[in-house]
Amino acid sequence: MDIKELRDLALKEVLGAKNLEELEKLEIKYLGRKGSLTEVLKQLKELSEEMRGQIGAAANQLKHELASTLERRKKEIKAVFEEKKEWVDISAPGHKLAKGHLNPLTLILRKVEEIFQSLGFSVVQGPELETDFYNFEALNVPKDHPARDMQDTFYIDEEHVLRTQTSPMQVRYMEKHQPPLRVIVPGRVFRRDATDASHDCQFYQIEGLMVDKEISVGNFKAVILEFFKRLYGQEVKIRLRPSFFPFTEPSFEVDMACSVCGGKGCKVCAHSGWLEMAGAGMVHPFVFKSAGYTPGDWQGFAFGIGLDRITMMKYKINDIRLLNFGDLRFLKQF
Ligand code: DAH
Repeated sequence: MDIKELRDLALKEVLGAKNLEELEKLEIKYLGRKGSLTEVLKQLKELSEEMRGQIGAAANQLKHELASTLERRKKEIKAVFEEKKEWVDISAPGHKLAKGHLNPLTLILRKVEEIFQSLGFSVVQGPELETDFYNFEALNVPKDHPARDMQDTFYIDEEHVLRTQTSPMQVRYMEKHQPPLRVIVPGRVFRRDATDASHDCQFYQIEGLMVDKEISVGNFKAVILEFFKRLYGQEVKIRLRPSFFPFTEPSFEVDMACSVCGGKGCKVCAHSGWLEMAGAGMVHPFVFKSAGYTPGDWQGFAFGIGLDRITMMKYKINDIRLLNFGDLRFLKQF
């Protein structure tokens, strides 16, 4: 191989080297003790003086050229590796973050709050550990009322209970605020109930209260109808069925035409065509008195909706216990 061929090949290989190891091998291959160029230089002494001068000069020049090219390529490769360490490809697809899921109760609660807020209601909260006074006494539930039975209520001591309903916030709120007022109170309530597909010892209620001058059952009906319509995204039929609650007079149960069968009667509505959605009524004068109002001055309506119930209806969930169980296979569906 003559010097020119050697030069072409060596430079091509050195410039094409992709990493430092390749470069090192090339250095040995050409400039090492047994390298091709070293061999050429060794053989110089066997040549005639004239040839030795010519080839020797060319070989020495190539030796320097090769050495400096190797050095330059080494620097280039190092620079690329250095750069790569800091390099961020902003166009590369990112890693997907593991996403959590909101409990369906939270989803529906947010929707409920949004609807009532748009109707002028404020959202307030009350304590889960409640006094016997606010949970019962102030709401016209006398000591011998069956709702106070040890069967239903978790008593903490003689004076304290885990609230069995969100209604105590009616009095707590009115003590601190003057009408006109419109509030809802979402929250967890507790009952000493045996659990099954439709009963849990803890569940959620949304209390509602509107107090002003000349409030009537008509106002309640308009508000609750608008609420269900917006919640379920379609016209719904409701009816008010006479009932009894100690803290309202008159009292009624709010039924909605069964959305599963459209009111014709099915398993879900026990073939009645109606589903019980809420308890409600006109605020009892006793409750106004408990809060320090003069009963004749004001009228109001109150209601209590079961959040679990409306959530189960919305998503067709057939067991209330799923809502609190924390099973990811269930939660991932929302
Ligand atoms: N607190 C009642 C319950 O837990 C529900 C209820 C009924 C709330 C009538 C009200 C109401 O505000 O007016 O069963």
